[in-house]
Amino acid sequence: EDAGARTPDLEAGAAKRRKLRSERWFGPADLRSFGHRSRAMQMGYDSQDWEGKPVIAILNTWSDINPCHMHFRQRVEDVKRGVLEAGGFPLELPAISLSENFMKPTTMLYRNMLAMEAEELLRSYPVDGAVLMGGCDKTTPGLLLGATSMDIPAIYVPAGPMLSGNWQGKTLGSGADSWKYWDELRAGKITQADWQGVEAGIARSAGTCMTMGTASTMTAIAEAIGLSLPGASSIPAVDSNHIRMAKSSGRRIVDMVREDLKPSRIQTHAAFLNAIAVAMAMGCSTNAIIHVIAMARRAGIPIGLDDFDRASREVPVIANVRPTGTTYLMEDFYYAGGIAALMNRISSFLDLTCLTVTGRSVGENIKDAQVWNNDVIRPLDRPMFTGQAGGALTVLRGNLAPDGCVMKPACCDPKFHKHSGPALVFDDYPSMKKAIEDETLDVTPDHVLVLRNAGPLGGPGMPEWGMLPMPKRLIKEGHRDMLRLSDARMSGTSYGACVLHVAPEGYVGGPLALLKTGDIVSIDVEARSISMEVPEEEFARRRAAWTSPPPRYGRGYGWMAAHHMRQANEGCDFDFLQTDFGAPVPEPVI
Ligand code: FES
Ligand code: MG
Repeated sequence: EDAGARTPDLEAGAAKRRKLRSERWFGPADLRSFGHRSRAMQMGYDSQDWEGKPVIAILNTWSDINPCHMHFRQRVEDVKRGVLEAGGFPLELPAISLSENFMKPTTMLYRNMLAMEAEELLRSYPVDGAVLMGGCDKTTPGLLLGATSMDIPAIYVPAGPMLSGNWQGKTLGSGADSWKYWDELRAGKITQADWQGVEAGIARSAGTCMTMGTASTMTAIAEAIGLSLPGASSIPAVDSNHIRMAKSSGRRIVDMVREDLKPSRIQTHAAFLNAIAVAMAMGCSTNAIIHVIAMARRAGIPIGLDDFDRASREVPVIANVRPTGTTYLMEDFYYAGGIAALMNRISSFLDLTCLTVTGRSVGENIKDAQVWNNDVIRPLDRPMFTGQAGGALTVLRGNLAPDGCVMKPACCDPKFHKHSGPALVFDDYPSMKKAIEDETLDVTPDHVLVLRNAGPLGGPGMPEWGMLPMPKRLIKEGHRDMLRLSDARMSGTSYGACVLHVAPEGYVGGPLALLKTGDIVSIDVEARSISMEVPEEEFARRRAAWTSPPPRYGRGYGWMAAHHMRQANEGCDFDFLQTDFGAPVPEPVI
């Protein structure tokens, strides 16, 4: 770095403070820094804006096509206000907005793109600390993965859930009720006009899905790790408390820079175990498994499927929030005390000494948080679902999924916890979709509906197809659930007897690729097992005859993802982004 002569006032400023990273851009009395300063002045700033002040990047995932983040256009101004109040210099840097409802084939394909973008924005620009604004499903892990790898002080501002849905005086929940009423429509139980009413009433405000989907799960996990202000993740997007939380986060990040409070000090092994315990108590989305494994690995911490299975046996589901819960939505959860109250209630499962963005421990943050409604956040002795019954998430292994697969036993009829039936196998979504509408399809409630080539590389990007649609024939006969199996993910707002994330996936030649219609598939949740009954010789014959499907992409981002995305049990991160891949990326020097 250029240690050349400084003007006297720059020198005085430097004496007052710790050395800031951004000073390498704004400080030196050389030609390059002249360029940085004159261009900042072009935007109307002057030396009082940057001198001695932490530069705070606000990574904003607002976009015109993301309804979950539509309030971020204004909310970023509240964050800026907080940064300015605390003596920082806020700079909004837009990052790709992964809008769950609109992106095809799936936002999951692009999570790692956001992670790379977040990391490189923070690395390449004069940034001392970061406020990460996300919430819609993959935006949370995407932003956090990037901030973890960059490891400068960072605080997470969750978008917050939208208001509860409403139609004809009935409460509607994101995702869960679209599927429920879609099946009712297919069964002829509601009219087209009813269906249109549901369409207009199910999403009524800015904010993320208000069931316990991936968004609410991941923002709660971010908070449980210690990366958000206490209680932040439960505040509804349009509540005035959300504005104040955003402003407080802006204020707090400036001090975090002064304290050099970086993600690496917060994201310890114990912090991730806390997050997993909280996720279990919430009855979390299955997607949490993939993201938390990826996040932990980025932090250099060995977290795997078994950590989830262990926690699910111990920690009861106490949040009565749909779809795992039966009744309430995130708005009710907030009024009942929210995440801080839930954490206080399960404090015996948490390491209360973990450091958080407040500079205080988890224990200090939550000690006064109370539950105001014991039906929404249940007492430990009256949970929604106990660990003995399978808990929130269960990891199954066997000859059909040697590297594991997952299931949400709390979300289906218990009769499917131990089940055997003939497989009905589909190689792709369109052929399955066509077949299930056929009312003469040879299918019984005991069948196991199977979709493969829907995993990380096959999907591609592991789309949320795992709640395979019920065959119309069974719907008409009055059935609403059956055992379903795939290498896909499912939306956190989904429900039913769905076995997901089968690893290795079919597309890369996992055993799932060799399953045939009519083979008997068995699962046993208590024994944590899943198997297919295929004699060894026959299995070997099928293996020898298998050929890998054609590549999905010849160029572009998809091609890169296909060459580098890991399997579901490893978090679907790109191999070259994991911390153990190679030497750390150097700081820009010139
Ligand atoms: Fe954005 Fe569900 S679509 S959180
Ligand atoms: Mg979702």
